[in-house]
Amino acid sequence: MKAELIANTYQLLLNGEWKETSSGKTIENLSPSDNMPVGAVQAMTENEVDLAVAGAKTAQKDWANRSFSERAELLYAWADQLLKMKEEIAETIMKEVGKGYSSAEKEVVRTADFIKYTAEEGKRIHGELINGGNFNAGSANKLAMVQRKPFGVVLAISPFNYPVNLSASKIAPALIAGNAVVFKPATQGAISGTLMIKALDKAGLPAGLVNLVTGKGSEIGDHLTTHPSINMINFTGGTETGEAISRKASMIPVILELGGKDPAIVLNDANFEKAAEDIVAGAFSYSGQRCTAIKRVLVMDEVADALVDKLKEKVNALKVGAPEDNAVVTPLINGKAADVVQQLVDDAVVKGATALTEIKRAGNLVYPVLLDNVTVDMEVAWKEPFGPVLPVIRVKNIEEAVTIANESEYGLQASIFTKSVEQAIHISNELETGTVQINGKTERGPDHFPFLGVKGSGLGVQGIRNSIESATREKVIVLNMNQG
Ligand code: G3H
Repeated sequence: MKAELIANTYQLLLNGEWKETSSGKTIENLSPSDNMPVGAVQAMTENEVDLAVAGAKTAQKDWANRSFSERAELLYAWADQLLKMKEEIAETIMKEVGKGYSSAEKEVVRTADFIKYTAEEGKRIHGELINGGNFNAGSANKLAMVQRKPFGVVLAISPFNYPVNLSASKIAPALIAGNAVVFKPATQGAISGTLMIKALDKAGLPAGLVNLVTGKGSEIGDHLTTHPSINMINFTGGTETGEAISRKASMIPVILELGGKDPAIVLNDANFEKAAEDIVAGAFSYSGQRCTAIKRVLVMDEVADALVDKLKEKVNALKVGAPEDNAVVTPLINGKAADVVQQLVDDAVVKGATALTEIKRAGNLVYPVLLDNVTVDMEVAWKEPFGPVLPVIRVKNIEEAVTIANESEYGLQASIFTKSVEQAIHISNELETGTVQINGKTERGPDHFPFLGVKGSGLGVQGIRNSIESATREKVIVLNMNQG
């Protein structure tokens, strides 16, 4: 008999049992918005991590033998349970990570859609037959049967900013491909992640197939990422941590979704109203705490005034305040995050940037900042704020825009606003990013598009089909056909 989750202190899920850690320690999460306790999660021990990985390894054997449609059934049921728990989960996301309620609700619905599509797409994953006759004469008798096999146990490490969506988007593709999962949510976000796993458990999760590991990354992180029975790691988070994981994880595949410094390049012939609308939405939704947020504007000198006027009007109209009131700009995840933003803004202003909005902060709440006349000697031109600040860099021409765009250590996405599609495609080919958006804001979705970053922005490709393929390896069986 499984124990029910105890109100406000959430249990871990280990090999089919909801329970407390033997360490007796819990970690309390406070809301970034009002500092009120949201609940506590278990601080697991290394020994419990070992049990979680071993249990997943055992459960995977049976799971890998199930058909795709059987695996898909679990995912459909999971999506249904998530939707049944929509309000509870959305409220928890809102409190735990300070996301506006309707965005939190959209996150749950998007996740259910993602899981259902993953189930569908998984059914279409198949191998191929390759005829051998393209090389020497003897090879014509060879036939390669190429199948897709799961890796085994996938370690999924999710960030705070999409505690449900960026967790499920790792877990669902791994499961449909026949893997087991050890899931380690970011501590701030772990309660939302726990509820998501509760939905999966209600859907009929086999014991051990997904084990929930909570605790401080500083205490169990290395133990997890270097565990010999982990066969693949899928991580979303900061570039520094991602790089450290990829260095430590030896000889196993790693998918990394890291930081960004996505530019919006605005050409002379752009529709400034549409560009400004997309840029402001792209830069400030969820207070800029998105890897794909627009984090700098590179605008041609001649049209900069026209664009900046529209940006200013739209930034001033942003709703700032509490997540409960569906504000767009809400308190940042913690005081340290707000300090980073403040420091970048201060540095820019001291070096001559023009602040077009009032610079104001109340605790973790940083009011949206629009900075004009930003130059390349300012930190905000290069660093990722992960907060509500938008620097505008005025450039002489397209070449300068491309040079500044590419000098970044990051390469996630870029936007180009222009009426000339040919011009946009030409510039797109020059940009060192995973994706370029023409006349639209930078964003990950729709979730079946390939999603990737280059340089410091990541490794590997996600997006539903790519995520499933990334969770598998190829297995080749060669049939050597006898003649006559
Ligand atoms: O923070 C990183 C996310 O992958 C961004 O997703 O573009 O849907 O907000 P999004």
